[in-house]
Amino acid sequence: MGNNMASSTISIQRPDDWHVHFRDGEMLTTVVPFTATRFARAIVMPNLDPPITTIRSAKAYRERILMALPKNSNFIPLMTCYLTDDADIDEIIEGYRTGVFSAVKFYPAGATTNSSYGVTELKNVFSAFERMQEVGMPLLVHGEVTDPEVDVFDREVVYIERVLKLIIDAFPELKIVMEHITTKDAVDFIRARSLEAPGRIGATITAHHLMINRTDIFRGGIRPHLYCLPIAKREGHRLALREAATSGQSPFFLGTDTAPHAKTIKESSCGCAGIFSAPTALEMYAQVFDEENALDKLEAFASINGPIFYGLDVNQSEIKLHRTARFCPETIETSNGEELHVFGGGKTLVWKVL
Ligand code: NCD
Ligand code: ZN
Repeated sequence: MGNNMASSTISIQRPDDWHVHFRDGEMLTTVVPFTATRFARAIVMPNLDPPITTIRSAKAYRERILMALPKNSNFIPLMTCYLTDDADIDEIIEGYRTGVFSAVKFYPAGATTNSSYGVTELKNVFSAFERMQEVGMPLLVHGEVTDPEVDVFDREVVYIERVLKLIIDAFPELKIVMEHITTKDAVDFIRARSLEAPGRIGATITAHHLMINRTDIFRGGIRPHLYCLPIAKREGHRLALREAATSGQSPFFLGTDTAPHAKTIKESSCGCAGIFSAPTALEMYAQVFDEENALDKLEAFASINGPIFYGLDVNQSEIKLHRTARFCPETIETSNGEELHVFGGGKTLVWKVL
């Protein structure tokens, strides 16, 4: 990496985003370019309504994403399959073998946006895990239990205890990514397990979970645009996430979980979960690594650890980031006139992608 700590410009191999929501229709058309101009590839979440569960629907969705790319873009969307109780495992494996699916996404039923089709009981998908393990297909988990008795701030930790440990023990060769981790418990768990079996378990970390804690959601009033799932936790957890990301260690990699919802749906008596960060996340990661004096680790986190985990090549081209103040508008408008609130919008960003 061409980087000297005193300088205000750094270059890194072009990063990938290992967790994005592109939605569909006008929303997709509006949001895809923000990701495609920064990242070379992205793992695309399948939680449309109805979700992506077949090779045919994944191919058609991929085409719609490609149609929304800026001219001359080389961006590659990596498609995922939404796991359901009655998943067609032959279809999933065939999709992986033919390069249509890069991974399977496992949402517990009811965990988050459009997860009503998710898995109701773990045993229903054990045969799928077995086949995925055989072929090396990664399992991406939304790591929260949905038991209504469990406090919303404890759902990740309880998931590790009740679900993740069980899957790992039952399928010792299955590759697993715990998505958008939010706790020190998850950091410690992922780190320990990946030491035991390197390259087998990883975790994505969002920019917003590196920037905000749960108090920020209520600072001066309720802040619906800081509400996402898993919800941000206490400050100590945020600090543990910053330590993990900026360690540059191999199991931790970049996944923004950019999750656009119309402003009117976020600002409601029952606002939905999701933070739209595609226009600012990479800039925010740079800021975090800068604040932690770890700009030399940004490339590992953003551009190297992810492809190595997924068994893909690291991108060949480079991007440059420059430390310079830039005002970011609070909202952007979709092509059909809906407003989207941008994470970190309405303020000055410290870093800029050149
Ligand atoms: C995501 C969404 O809106 O699709 N929401 C979120 O809060 N992160 C779903 C998800 O990844 O949980
Ligand atoms: Zn997500």
